[in-house]
Amino acid sequence: MRNLNEANLTNAALAKLEGATDARFKEIMTSLIKHLHGFIRETELTESEWSTGIQFLTATGKKCDDTRQEYILLSDTLGVSMLVDAINHRKPGGATETTVLGPFYVEGSKDQPMWANIGAGVAGEPAYVYGRVLDTAGQPIVGAALDVWQTDGEGLYDVQRQGGNERYARGKFTTGADGRYGFRTVKPVSYPIPTDGPVGAMLLATGRHPYRPAHVHAIVTASGYEGVATHIFVEGDQYLDSDAVFGVKNSLVKDFTKHPAGRTPDGKESATPFFSVEFDFRLVRA
Ligand code: BEZ
Ligand code: FE
Repeated sequence: MRNLNEANLTNAALAKLEGATDARFKEIMTSLIKHLHGFIRETELTESEWSTGIQFLTATGKKCDDTRQEYILLSDTLGVSMLVDAINHRKPGGATETTVLGPFYVEGSKDQPMWANIGAGVAGEPAYVYGRVLDTAGQPIVGAALDVWQTDGEGLYDVQRQGGNERYARGKFTTGADGRYGFRTVKPVSYPIPTDGPVGAMLLATGRHPYRPAHVHAIVTASGYEGVATHIFVEGDQYLDSDAVFGVKNSLVKDFTKHPAGRTPDGKESATPFFSVEFDFRLVRA
């Protein structure tokens, strides 16, 4: 292994994998080396560009801590997260489509009764979100769990607020015998993903905006079914066609209907305006 050059370096690096005992690890490393070398050959990377890349990756790592994962943000903004999602969740037609999980999910949300208001005291316009959890044949699923979270009407998740200790606009709901769920909240709004790190600089350098269209996140699980991590997007949002993390799917976009006042989806009367959206989740048998 001497006199390595442009022509034989890739094969030399690949040969170093011979001792790998885990077949899948070897397959992944082989592909990684081939693509990485291919990328450098294709672009004829200069030493200064290579150094810039190393600095970028170093800064990305330094930006990570217990609450901030800049590498996931990088993966999201390069379309990698959604590609991994697409490959790993090839759902049959009729099943609710998946989308990106994002960094603002918090485990252990409180169990809430039907029609609980997770937006009480939260900035934003009142909204009702309701529907059913069904199987792909349209039969209701009893006892399905919905873990939901979203921004307030100012585009911030609870965890992004100063201190970040107060929980709001998130909760866990369980479907009843008819597969129904429902909760009160505020209408989510579009918001920028964090831009104060190297990923923000990358977006700026590529002329991209950092916005995600308004959405409610949901993880829906039920015994005997494949769980789904998805969103309900707000129809009409200006960023639906340019989501910074490539997460929008037509089947997940719903009208948040504005009502001037009157009967609310939980059967009460409202003297003030509110929004409502109906969304059925359809799960595939495990
Ligand atoms: C989110 O929807 O919460 C999100 C997803 C990807 C990156 C940043 C935020
Ligand atoms: Fe989000």
